[in-house]
Amino acid sequence: MMSTSSPVTPASKPFLWGAASAAYQVEGGIYTDQRGRSVWDYYLDDLSLAGPGISGAIAINFYEREQYLQDIALLQQWGINSYRFSMAWSRILPDGLGVVNPAAIKHYRQFILDLKAAGIEPMLTLYHWDMPLALARAGGWSNRESIDWFTRYAEVVFANFADLVELFVLVNEPLVEHAFTMVANERIAGQASQLAILPAEHQLVSALNAFNHILLASAAAKRSFQAKGYQGRLGVALPLMPTLTLEGASEQDKVAARLADGVLNRWFLDALYKGSYPADVLAVVAQSGLELSIQPDDAATIQAAQWDYLGVNYYAPMFIRHRATAQGAYTPEVFLPEGTYAAFNGPVRPDQFLALLTRLQTEYGNPVVMITENGAGFPNEDQLVNGAVHDTQRSRYLVGHIQAMQQARAQGANVQGYHVWSSHDNLEWLSGYDSRFGMIYVDFDTQQRIPKQSASIYARLIKGETVTEADCNL
Ligand code: FCB
Repeated sequence: MMSTSSPVTPASKPFLWGAASAAYQVEGGIYTDQRGRSVWDYYLDDLSLAGPGISGAIAINFYEREQYLQDIALLQQWGINSYRFSMAWSRILPDGLGVVNPAAIKHYRQFILDLKAAGIEPMLTLYHWDMPLALARAGGWSNRESIDWFTRYAEVVFANFADLVELFVLVNEPLVEHAFTMVANERIAGQASQLAILPAEHQLVSALNAFNHILLASAAAKRSFQAKGYQGRLGVALPLMPTLTLEGASEQDKVAARLADGVLNRWFLDALYKGSYPADVLAVVAQSGLELSIQPDDAATIQAAQWDYLGVNYYAPMFIRHRATAQGAYTPEVFLPEGTYAAFNGPVRPDQFLALLTRLQTEYGNPVVMITENGAGFPNEDQLVNGAVHDTQRSRYLVGHIQAMQQARAQGANVQGYHVWSSHDNLEWLSGYDSRFGMIYVDFDTQQRIPKQSASIYARLIKGETVTEADCNL
């Protein structure tokens, strides 16, 4: 059903302005408090997939209270009222399934209380890719039993945190997680693979099966939350990516872009809001002679969970064209048109952020949307010069994208929160420590923090000041 109402942010719920992070990227302390091992310890610590000596062993030391209290004090100065962070599953349940670890519960409860004491509400992500190693070895999300594994974990989290937390993000970006799993496995097999967010044809079945399990796991966790009578709002965070073609693109290019949209965006959105998987994607899978392990009612079960909000991670659109050498029906190829202004995660296009939010409004019944991630990093931008970091490009990116979001809201999109990725520079997965995304510069050797120019720009935007992109050209 379409809603024509104007943006509603009930008086009791102020717009959320925040920043986001994820456990493995910031915590360090991988042996502290009986933490179990996750698949990312295996990738980086054991196999050095991000390069020699690069791992989450220390990261930005955020597990240590003395450290994070100083960080919260910095965030507080910007006027944020929300902080999105994730819990490490292998801290709560060190082997993934068995005994609950009271030290981890104690730690995260203290962290949440410390946030709240600073006037910052927690937005708790249960799963941001750090699958307990034993479960990854049992097949991870490709195993349908992962639905039960995750539900068990979620029930422990709800039982221990629902009294303190109102907003839960069940899972983060299944699509990008799968892409990392693929590239990690290929590198382990000795291939020099690069990260590719759009699954290749030979990865399609494993991707779509895993996405189905992740959405079913989230739906099961949501049902359990409701059944136990907890109060709160639950959603999943998707990396939504408009697919674009060049002007003058051929019909084949447009078909390829539409199909890529089916895999990247509609696969998730249609299941969550329409209770079905997109027919064009299913048809291409069938034409390619591939078989999915999806059961007839799965998508309906996912929709029936009735999502309280949609978490949107937006960075960039993706340019698609028809792959001339493609053999079968699955032909999309990702490319970056020459001369495109791009950040690490793709072309800088605030207009596509507006288009995406408008699409959710018109095609998916105007759900409550929380921007769970938006931000950018640029090659060589974050230079510490005379004690300061002038991250002009990031500042301009934030101004442009926040403007686009406000325009969408003014046009009726039901956006109720916005979180910058990220508060701090941190461990950017397989890219290690060189791809900085933070508004706070971190010296990874000394753990010194230096707020960048973007932090003060963001603080002004939160106050509602008019800031233009030109104001960022310091
Ligand atoms: C997103 C991830 C997040 C971070 C940013 C840059 O895809 O959710 O952990 O890596 O990109």
